[in-house]
Amino acid sequence: MTEPAIKYHLIKKEKHTGARLGEIITPHGTFPTPMFMPVGTQASVKSLAPEELDAMGANIILSNTYHLWLRPGEEIVKEAGGLHKFMNWNKGILTDSGGFQVFSLAKMRDITEEGVHFRSHLSGEKLFLSPEKAIQIENALGADIMMSFDECPPFFESYDYIKKSVERTSRWAERGLKAHQNAEKQGLFGIVQGGGHKELRAQSAHDLVSMDFPGYSIGGLSVGESKSEMNHVLSFTTPMLPENKPRYLMGVGSADALIDGVIRGIDMFDCVLPTRIARNGSCMTSHGRLVVKNAVYAHDFRPIDDNCNCYTCRNFSRAYIRHLIKADETFGLRLTSYHNLYFLIHLMQQVRQAIMDDNLLEFRENFFEEYGFNSE
Ligand code: GUN
Ligand code: ZN
Repeated sequence: MTEPAIKYHLIKKEKHTGARLGEIITPHGTFPTPMFMPVGTQASVKSLAPEELDAMGANIILSNTYHLWLRPGEEIVKEAGGLHKFMNWNKGILTDSGGFQVFSLAKMRDITEEGVHFRSHLSGEKLFLSPEKAIQIENALGADIMMSFDECPPFFESYDYIKKSVERTSRWAERGLKAHQNAEKQGLFGIVQGGGHKELRAQSAHDLVSMDFPGYSIGGLSVGESKSEMNHVLSFTTPMLPENKPRYLMGVGSADALIDGVIRGIDMFDCVLPTRIARNGSCMTSHGRLVVKNAVYAHDFRPIDDNCNCYTCRNFSRAYIRHLIKADETFGLRLTSYHNLYFLIHLMQQVRQAIMDDNLLEFRENFFEEYGFNSE
């Protein structure tokens, strides 16, 4: 047996909630958890340089197999020496498998036991992705953490459909594990599905845990269900996963959901939300959402968030950023993107401190009060 590429070290559990303080050990560094991972879908976190991501405290970024396969093609990334070299990012990278993107972006999907037939959202060309193909692309990209090829069924699909889907996703996970070529350099995670059904989440977790992945993702959430439904699923799903492996909640990035996920035992999160809303002129702040392009900020020379110490907040006013965005100056979107990512990364730092101090529930209460519950 070779040493696994990805390891997890549990440092302590918060006294009242069981929230986990730990670290994830990757070939590109050891990073504290719980953590938030910025999304760089096409080998770039939109508008930001790797140096800036490093400066704000980002440790692992996420990229997408589906997008890089279609453009520029994994062979070009491999020829560059892998994704880290291609994009000049020396810390952690995680690639999603393409499963989710095929379901959310591509047209005309046809799911079979073998894999998924679909049309490219770029060219309309007919394509086929299977567990083996996804792993082969992920091996060529060379990220530290890879995702299994899964199906993310709609949360409110029928029990019978989700049961069949979970069983197929387990078979796909097993096939992916067999196809994986590079286990000493890249860790492959399994993805627990099962919609809102406890038995199906249990079946999925049981199947995947028996395959002994170095980490487990929880998928199929934040797809239209309520926050309380998501929290309910997390409450019964994380206890089904081994304590000595990291747990990653996929596609979740609102501040309140991050805190509530950590309380339920999640270690890693990713989401396009902070960068996507930033490009719309929307900022995450300790007082809730602030739409900086609104007219009320035209004469407001305060920073976006008076509690934030990021480059944007230390140097620029709401009025200036509003002006940039109104005038279509791309620097404005860079400033809001930087702030929003910093905000979530800094929030996770505070959450880790609260776990250390055994006062996470008090932290949550204060944060939610200031933030305005359900403001996102
Ligand atoms: N991103 C957000 N949710 C999911 C999911 O269920 N599966 C995968 N592969 N990626 C996701
Ligand atoms: Zn800021």
